Amino acid sequence: KVFEVNWDAEAAEKGGFEHFMLKEIYEQPKAMRDTMTGRVNAEEKTINFPELNWTAEELQGINKIFIVACGTAYHAGIVGKYYLEQLARIPVEVDIASEFRYRSPLIDGNSLCIVISQSGETSDTLAALREAKRLGARTVGVTNVVGSSVAREADQVIYTYAGPEIAVASTKAYTTQLLAMFMFAIYVGRLRNTLDEAYSQELVAGLASIPEQIHVMLEDVDQIKVFAREYGSCEDAFFLGRSLDYAVALEGALKLKEISYIHAEAYAAGELKHGTLALIVSGVPVIVLATQEDVYDKTVSNLQEVKAREAVVIAIGFEGDTVLANHANHVIYIPRTGKYHAPLLAVLPLQ
Ligand code: BG6
Repeated sequence: KVFEVNWDAEAAEKGGFEHFMLKEIYEQPKAMRDTMTGRVNAEEKTINFPELNWTAEELQGINKIFIVACGTAYHAGIVGKYYLEQLARIPVEVDIASEFRYRSPLIDGNSLCIVISQSGETSDTLAALREAKRLGARTVGVTNVVGSSVAREADQVIYTYAGPEIAVASTKAYTTQLLAMFMFAIYVGRLRNTLDEAYSQELVAGLASIPEQIHVMLEDVDQIKVFAREYGSCEDAFFLGRSLDYAVALEGALKLKEISYIHAEAYAAGELKHGTLALIVSGVPVIVLATQEDVYDKTVSNLQEVKAREAVVIAIGFEGDTVLANHANHVIYIPRTGKYHAPLLAVLPLQ
């Protein structure tokens, strides 16, 4: 079957950027808009997935969701778990694809398996998808590439519409995966009535501002360049956060390892004290994400713990935050947004 792929030649060229990864970071406002097109109704502040066209009845049998992926897409899956459990109230397990098929997963016809893959061709992810189908699960592929193996083999597909991602290290594919999972959770939450209409409208309204907020952030990167110069020769770095901030921290650590060849680890901020604190020595950069209001005080107290060990703390928090500056060495401020929206912005300085 012939597929019409609407990517143009320009999209596969560097367009004046030094390298593809940087170009793709800068393409995120457009990628986010494209992911929302046809799914976000800005006037009614609702989400629809015409390609799924689900009804509440169809979802009744689903009692568990599995999200399976590799690398950055796996990290998007961890964020997706928070979204789906909190907004749609369905238990979610997230698996690394290369582990999933060897652990005899307890998956059956009442399970929904979501595989996330930018390329739609990662072999472990494909094998996991096939295993989930063999066990009778319903499957949805979240992918960027039209007509890819994941798109063809999953029962249904959610395309992320990020445009071609040439750089091996994923950036715009990740943020569009987060966005797709967020919209999907709102969609399922409304169908299951676990999410009330007013709150869902508030969430959708917040989404509409995201592309412009990203655009504004990308216009002002001088501070990021200073940090890169100052700490780019370090050997180790740590990323801390709680809740959704922890999920984003995982992605930040992977980006730093993959691109800068710096050893980096992400920790749930409250877990650091159980051993790893020993590695926090004088001068080690520790990036602390503090965007989640419900765990904010606890995160600040973890920040103080690492500061007491003379780590160099770079905090990431919302504009208008007056607390972080009193404790961290540096603060990167991101535009204020909702707690579920925060990962879409907080990951940018880490990229
Ligand atoms: C890795 C890339 O090799 O593959 C990651 O370095 C990517 O950036 C991962 O997230 C999975 O790829 P895909 O195409 O399945 O999302």
